[in-house]
Amino acid sequence: MTLRHFLRDDDLTAAEQHEILTRAKAIKAAPFRDRSLAGPEVVAVLFDKQTLRTQVSFTAAIAHLGGFPMVIDGKLAQVGVRESIADTARVLGREAVAIVWRTYGQERIEEMASYANVPVINALTDEFHPCQVLADLLTINEHKGRLAGLTFGYVGDGANNMAQSYLLGGALAGLHVRIGTPAEYQPNPDYLERAAQIAAEQGGSVTVVDNPVDAVAGADVVATDTWVSMGKEKESDSRKGSSSPFARFAVTADLMAQAAPDAIFLHCLPAYRGFEVDAEVIDGPQSVVWDESENRLHAQAAVLSWLREQHRASTR
Ligand code: NVA
Repeated sequence: MTLRHFLRDDDLTAAEQHEILTRAKAIKAAPFRDRSLAGPEVVAVLFDKQTLRTQVSFTAAIAHLGGFPMVIDGKLAQVGVRESIADTARVLGREAVAIVWRTYGQERIEEMASYANVPVINALTDEFHPCQVLADLLTINEHKGRLAGLTFGYVGDGANNMAQSYLLGGALAGLHVRIGTPAEYQPNPDYLERAAQIAAEQGGSVTVVDNPVDAVAGADVVATDTWVSMGKEKESDSRKGSSSPFARFAVTADLMAQAAPDAIFLHCLPAYRGFEVDAEVIDGPQSVVWDESENRLHAQAAVLSWLREQHRASTR
């Protein structure tokens, strides 16, 4: 059996995604029962970019499974500068049973996985944020009782990691994923094509529109994300300034009112009130962002538990 990694949403089949979400639900319902990392086994958790939720939720998830989180500051490690990605993978693989990495280009985490002898998990790259999307799917399922067939409208930066992961991960779950974004911030066409292929297999759909109302009209779920992702800080003025192309995609109470009356609102956080979302939406009754934030823990515990199980089976 091949060594499995979780580098992008479609590294899982639809059935595997479903299995992990079911496991996440069980872990949430009965904390500390899954002891997949008992020992404690060590999981390396490495950050090249800023973090709050990802560090705390992976630390908590690893602790819940009986393991030990070895959190590494990327500024000290300087992966790819002081030491090659390949050598880092070889070193970490001797100490840890899994490697969790937040970094820049997707090619960096792919290289890490190609040299690692343990599972590698994407804790956000410029291209994807698959752990967040698993947490979001868990949250949607909790509030709506199902996933397949629901309409999911995301508005904002269509070229960022969240939009691209929503396309792939949402399509796998059978959602109708609509991305509302300015013409100059389209998702990568390769990922969009892949998502369309998955959606066709799973009975969902993917659509990209240039109009926020078309993206959220009648939607069961409305989501957004910052207009300035990590690594894009130099573009902050053009993205957030007075002539921001994203301004008309802000989730205001008026935009939210275009969605289904019982729609829920998601935001991966950190949120910038008054920019991509108004306070009355994110702090209002339709917002489930704190459940979503907590669900990072449970979704990631499930991914770790599942990958550890796959790895054990492959080396038996
Ligand atoms: N798109 C955002 C997500 C933060 C969790 C970023 O990359 O900064």
